[in-house]
Amino acid sequence: MIKTAIDGSYVVALAYIDSTPIGFARIISDGVAYALLVDTMINPKFQRKGIGTKIVEQLIHYCKERKIFMMKLISSKEGKIFYQKIGFKSCSSDEPGMILNLTP
Ligand SMILES: CC(C)(COP(=O)(O)OP(=O)(O)OC[C@H]1O[C@@H](n2cnc3c(N)ncnc32)[C@H](O)[C@@H]1OP(=O)(O)O)[C@@H](O)C(=O)NCCC(=O)NCCS
Repeated sequence: MIKTAIDGSYVVALAYIDSTPIGFARIISDGVAYALLVDTMINPKFQRKGIGTKIVEQLIHYCKERKIFMMKLISSKEGKIFYQKIGFKSCSSDEPGMILNLTP
């Protein structure tokens, strides 16, 4: 499942220390208009060192270079301040995002 998800991603960012992966995030995108940022996660041992910010900023840079104009995400409670600090803004309450949970 992980391999299929990675293979189907538009771009994947991985952070390594030596040869050990310690952080991850990926983008699902149509390549021209919309990019969805998913699965941002940093090994707890290496959190609060700026690694998550660096990974997300690199993905933003990658999408900007390709003229993609809208990046979206669904944040966990924990991620909200993190993403706000990078520049993401919550949708207004009268125009909120909508989610359909497809799991049984
Ligand atoms: C959220 C997450 C990706 C942040 O990664 P990170 O490498 O620790 O983040 P950074 O070091 O770049 O943090 C940048 C800033 O974001 C904010 N921040 C990061 N983690 C935070 C937390 N747990 N609670 C509150 N603010 C947080 C802080 O303002 C931080 O700056 P500071 O350390 O100078 O105070 C990481 O905590 C994680 O993997 N969490 C579990 C999975 C998750 O919730 N991912 C979000 C997906 S929706």
